[in-house]
Amino acid sequence: MTLDEKIGMVRGVGQFSSRCVGNISPPSRSFVVSGTNITIPPLCFNDGPAGIRLGGSNVTGFPPAINVAATFNRSMMYARGVAIGEEFRGKGIHVYLGPAVDIMRNPKAGRGWEGFGPDPYLGGEGAYQTIMGVQSVGVSACTKHLGPYNQEHWRYGLNVNVDDRTFRELYWWPFMKSVEANVSALMCAYNQVNGTSSCHNAALIGEEGYLRSEGFQGFVVSDWGATHDSAADNANAGLDMEQPGDYILIGGGVYAGLEAAVDLGEVTGARLNEMVTRILTPWLRLGQDQGFPETNFNAQDPDGTDALNLNVNVRTDAHTALVRQIGSASAVLLKNNRTTSTATGTTIRGLPLSKSIKTIAVVGQDAQQLNLDCGGGLNECNDGTMIIGWGSGSNNVEFTVPPIDAITDFVQDFATVSSDITSNDLTGGPAVAEGKDLAIVFANAMSGELGFYNIVDGNEGDRNDLDLWWKGGSLIEDVAAVCNNTVVVIHSVGPVPMSSWNNHPNITAIIYAGAPGEQTGPALIDVLWGAVNPSGRLPFSIDDDEASYGTSIVYGIDPFPVIDYTEGLFLDYRYMDSQDITPVYEFGYGLSYTTFSYSSLSVEASASSASFSFVLTNTGSVEGAEIPQLYLGFPSSAGEPDKVLRGFDNIFLASGEKQTVTVTVSQKEMSIWDVVSQAWVVPSGTFNVYIGASIKDIRLTGTFTI
Ligand code: NOJ
Repeated sequence: MTLDEKIGMVRGVGQFSSRCVGNISPPSRSFVVSGTNITIPPLCFNDGPAGIRLGGSNVTGFPPAINVAATFNRSMMYARGVAIGEEFRGKGIHVYLGPAVDIMRNPKAGRGWEGFGPDPYLGGEGAYQTIMGVQSVGVSACTKHLGPYNQEHWRYGLNVNVDDRTFRELYWWPFMKSVEANVSALMCAYNQVNGTSSCHNAALIGEEGYLRSEGFQGFVVSDWGATHDSAADNANAGLDMEQPGDYILIGGGVYAGLEAAVDLGEVTGARLNEMVTRILTPWLRLGQDQGFPETNFNAQDPDGTDALNLNVNVRTDAHTALVRQIGSASAVLLKNNRTTSTATGTTIRGLPLSKSIKTIAVVGQDAQQLNLDCGGGLNECNDGTMIIGWGSGSNNVEFTVPPIDAITDFVQDFATVSSDITSNDLTGGPAVAEGKDLAIVFANAMSGELGFYNIVDGNEGDRNDLDLWWKGGSLIEDVAAVCNNTVVVIHSVGPVPMSSWNNHPNITAIIYAGAPGEQTGPALIDVLWGAVNPSGRLPFSIDDDEASYGTSIVYGIDPFPVIDYTEGLFLDYRYMDSQDITPVYEFGYGLSYTTFSYSSLSVEASASSASFSFVLTNTGSVEGAEIPQLYLGFPSSAGEPDKVLRGFDNIFLASGEKQTVTVTVSQKEMSIWDVVSQAWVVPSGTFNVYIGASIKDIRLTGTFTI
């Protein structure tokens, strides 16, 4: 390639100058390599983590990662990756801008739902499976945002100070798993890390930096507009590609100076060759040079009406079914006071619902169809049912089946539905609920990306508080006051306060349904009427008070704060454990319509791996899946939190069935990052092993000594 051709490979063409949110200018000629004719097409980069954004019509609205995390189900994580990859491929998108693996450091973090929550192990498994799935169909994945990038306020320049060990064990971990999955690309973030912008931070992305020293062979691409400084600074720090190529918001466009920098010798020809090689190698490795569909949509046309947008149908029945399946598998049953007979007769309360329930009230605006045309592909409003947050991590929500439609349709032969769902009316809602056999009350909370300063009801990306929106908490209390069989459904991007109503005797069940994607209604029906036995587990702890989480969002008025991650390894359940804080519902928690017992733990461990076997029995009367979780207690000298998640499985058992389950832990998973030797080291001493149904519901314990 000529110098010009190489520059075209590493420099974006401009956010609004291509059919994708990012693109490059490949050489206009073909090359013959080892007898094969190779023509490099414009490489199409597009959002985002939960399916195609700005893809025109006929795309699926997948659930975001936070709900996939709540399934604790690796095969579903993988299947979602495959399905997303198929849709990206069908539209001719070479690089999927996902998964997002940013740790939910604070529950109000605007983009927390785009990732897998606050636990690095769960995030690592989610990232690994997603990438394996997406790349299995020949689409490159791009894990983002390195990071750490954990709040929206001041994201374009805030500085995170994080120590080496915390970075490796928490924030880096899902990136490390991405490297293990052979991810094609990593995206550096907007903010600074330890005093230097992520995208020219050699300690992160350079030859001697974290990601190269852990074996990453793909390319590093900037977040959109995350480059500052000179072309030489960025290229020499390790940035292989700049996107979108022009100046947006507060940065970008620096590779306009790259050719001059090479001419002047500030960037060597060898470095430029390396950049091009790293971009082209995944393209070839995934076979994108053979039979990859041409880009056939237009990201500049969210409505899908212009001529460049062919609106190729990439939806399939299988994708729709999978979204419904993930929706029900991610629903977390938090409370279920089931009674099958009462003093007055045989009314059945709690879940699963019975067809003997004849009068149903549906209350809350979160039950109704959401505004499908909100923010030009950014979903910038909380208007109707909440299925995904706003910003680039949203898909351009095209289609959903809202709860009200699904419920009305499902019960038409055996019950009547009355509703009050146009707003959270504290008079109308209770009035409809009074005297009914059942009231289902919906409430939600939402957050998103700051992006082009997207502010929804005063929330600049990060939530202003943990509360349910639109007085949702009051609505729940007022409905419960008048209906003694009230079922609460929460759609939220993260924890919300619950203690003012969760123990109300008239609230017979609570489902935390998260952000379930387009099949939200049918997925909920499956759980409510028992076609699916719930097995979702909380991917974070739920408590009323932000102080229980040990971190905060820095709002403030002075630009670009310095945020010291002084909490170290202690986030969410790790922090609560260390402070003896009992949350309302803890990490890993979730009920089922059946019960499980755990017995006969055996431990086999050496310094290179450990395996733990136990017998799991379905002791209840219906089939269902249990999520056994393995928490490791490191030797006290290691300075780790008391318990850290290091394994889980998803085991489906018929009533009465039992199975021996084995969970293995690798050497790295038994290691801590040793800052002195700069290596993963298994600490010597006695490890505690905790196996159970949540961080607080430990059923079996053991030890081993290294
Ligand atoms: C900025 C976001 O931070 C990133 O996640 C996204 O992929 C790009 N914009 C492109 O839309």
